[in-house]
Amino acid sequence: MEKMIDHIRLAYNALEKVFVKKIYSDNAITEDDSNLSARITLGVLEKNVYLEYILSQIWKQEPNERVKIILKIGAYMLLFIDKIPDFAVVNETVNFVKNKYKDSLKSNNTQEKKSFNQSTYKFTNFILNSICRKEYKLPKEEDSNYLSITYSKPQWFIDRMIKEFGEGNTLKVLKDNVSVYDYEHIRINSRKDKDEIVHKLEESKSIIRKTLVGGYVVKKNDEIKKLFNKGDITYQSPSSMIAVQGFNPDSGLQILDLCSAPGGKSVYLGELCPDSKILACDISEDRLRKVEQYAKRMNVSNIETKVMDATQFNDKLVNKYDYILVDAPCTCFGTFVKQPDVFIQHDESDIDKLSETQTKILLNAFKYLKANGTIIYSTCTLFKKENDDVIKTALKSNSNFMLEKIDVDINNKGIIRLLPNKEWEGFFVAKIVKKGEN
Ligand SMILES: C[S@@+](CC[C@H](N)C(=O)[O-])C[C@H]1O[C@@H](n2cnc3c(N)ncnc32)[C@H](O)[C@@H]1O
Repeated sequence: MEKMIDHIRLAYNALEKVFVKKIYSDNAITEDDSNLSARITLGVLEKNVYLEYILSQIWKQEPNERVKIILKIGAYMLLFIDKIPDFAVVNETVNFVKNKYKDSLKSNNTQEKKSFNQSTYKFTNFILNSICRKEYKLPKEEDSNYLSITYSKPQWFIDRMIKEFGEGNTLKVLKDNVSVYDYEHIRINSRKDKDEIVHKLEESKSIIRKTLVGGYVVKKNDEIKKLFNKGDITYQSPSSMIAVQGFNPDSGLQILDLCSAPGGKSVYLGELCPDSKILACDISEDRLRKVEQYAKRMNVSNIETKVMDATQFNDKLVNKYDYILVDAPCTCFGTFVKQPDVFIQHDESDIDKLSETQTKILLNAFKYLKANGTIIYSTCTLFKKENDDVIKTALKSNSNFMLEKIDVDINNKGIIRLLPNKEWEGFFVAKIVKKGEN
């Protein structure tokens, strides 16, 4: 696919899914998307706050969501993709709008019909040309919105980060995070011949560096895809690996994963404890199919799946499990580098709602754990309300449960919190053990 308008169309389709249908970007971007369209999609999501700030200085009346998406695509290409000349960006974006208008006349979707009219292309042309002429201002360093606009993060996020982690740490988080379009973190299937796979990775010049957790940062290329499809490797973030490494590999155990889909941690646990049985649960039946596919691809056969709402107490599970993983549903704010749409999918009010859900799930997990058993509680989010506060509330009412050091190469007393940086996504892991008798 060569034509620029096709890249714009693919990016628009993915962004419509994210902004209008609230589908996560990793599901909205498909294999059929070109590298350029995926780059535009992720770029618009990453720069969303910045682009809205600029565009809202130019438009007199805020357009509807679909038109906004097109303007953001054009503005992103003008401001952040140097190799495409400005006139080409403006022309092709305007042509795309004309096509969208024609399509909308035939569409059965009333929202889409209402979104475009004859004058939308003139409006788009006007806005994009204003951007070319730099008819907007950016905040100065002393302005209160400077960090939010410069680093394209919601103002509430900056304020809360500073309040909880201080200005220095917040600046580090904002500055250390470069966009990662072309790299992935992988781990090698524990049951395969590691030396042979490393040799293939080296031969294809895929490895950028080895990581602290025993994985690799690699370039996305055909060899990586091939190894992935064969189940020799899998994509898994270092943080996700740490949560699993918090359990000691052992055999003959009953293991429960209460929020398991799409299966990254269950499958890794299955590899590390091949002679143990894992019950992988999730509230979503569809997502559990992904756990099954994942386990099949990695040749892991000790996982059974079950649809279950983990907030509801299940008396059949009481005192049955040696290890329980609570990789709780969360706001995912620690993943903003890879998933820049987390700020579109969630806002600050979700933090309180999810904290309640997480506490319910963890308190149920306490009831399902055998004496001397271990629970790992993890999230990929940052703020204390979904992390420390959940642990504190659960431990307060259960004196035979306590934190225990997580046996990995990071200094800790039972809790590891990492703010996002070049190496890590932001995440939180706590290890809790049950003393005494059932
Ligand atoms: C962070 S994801 C889990 C990721 C997974 N552990 C992995 O490593 O691939 C959280 C999961 O919790 C599930 N979930 C949300 N609410 C739930 C509930 N009440 N009970 C069980 N699962 C739930 C979601 O469907 C989602 O799959």
